[in-house]
Amino acid sequence: MSIAVSSRLYTVQELVAGLRALPEAGFDITEPVRAFLEAHPVDPVTLAPYLTWDAQHYTRNLIDRTSIYELMAICWSAGQSSSVHNHKNQNCWMAVPVGRLMVQNYRVELEDVATGVCSLEPTDLIEMNPGAPAAVNPQEPVHKVMNPREWNDPAVSLHIYSRPFDTCIVYSYEQGTCGEIKLHFNTEYGLPLKQPLMH
Ligand code: SIN
Repeated sequence: MSIAVSSRLYTVQELVAGLRALPEAGFDITEPVRAFLEAHPVDPVTLAPYLTWDAQHYTRNLIDRTSIYELMAICWSAGQSSSVHNHKNQNCWMAVPVGRLMVQNYRVELEDVATGVCSLEPTDLIEMNPGAPAAVNPQEPVHKVMNPREWNDPAVSLHIYSRPFDTCIVYSYEQGTCGEIKLHFNTEYGLPLKQPLMH
């Protein structure tokens, strides 16, 4: 598939309008949304209402949600990273309008959430940056996102999940353990939640 390289930046409102106009079936496979993200890089200035920072943990900031997808901005200070986690039965796309991030993917050799036991094998390591959005491989949906401390720069990523979800499985690669956690937002639609929750 040929991709038109974008000659301009788009507002986050234009991104939302475009995502809402995509047919529902476009979210069931990865390429339409990945190509849409690549063709519509977002102007970081327009993300300002959604960007919050926390010295302890990356922040999750909801921008838009429908029954088909949710869009959030995640703010990563230097040195912050996610747990190794899955996107169970969901498609997931990521773009990085500010800075750059690494994604370590894993193959699951064994997963038994009931007993909390898992075995993972690291697979590919990819860099995401403003010119390189990514779609999570539905066959290998376990990964970890990192903003390496030595890069010494904040980063902002946009995540699209379809369908919206609020729990996931987290894994310890080193200990061979796993378990389900609930996911929370720091802000929704640009407004802080009354009681910020840890995740
Ligand atoms: C999250 O949604 O909290 C983690 C970001 C990701 O890797 O998808």
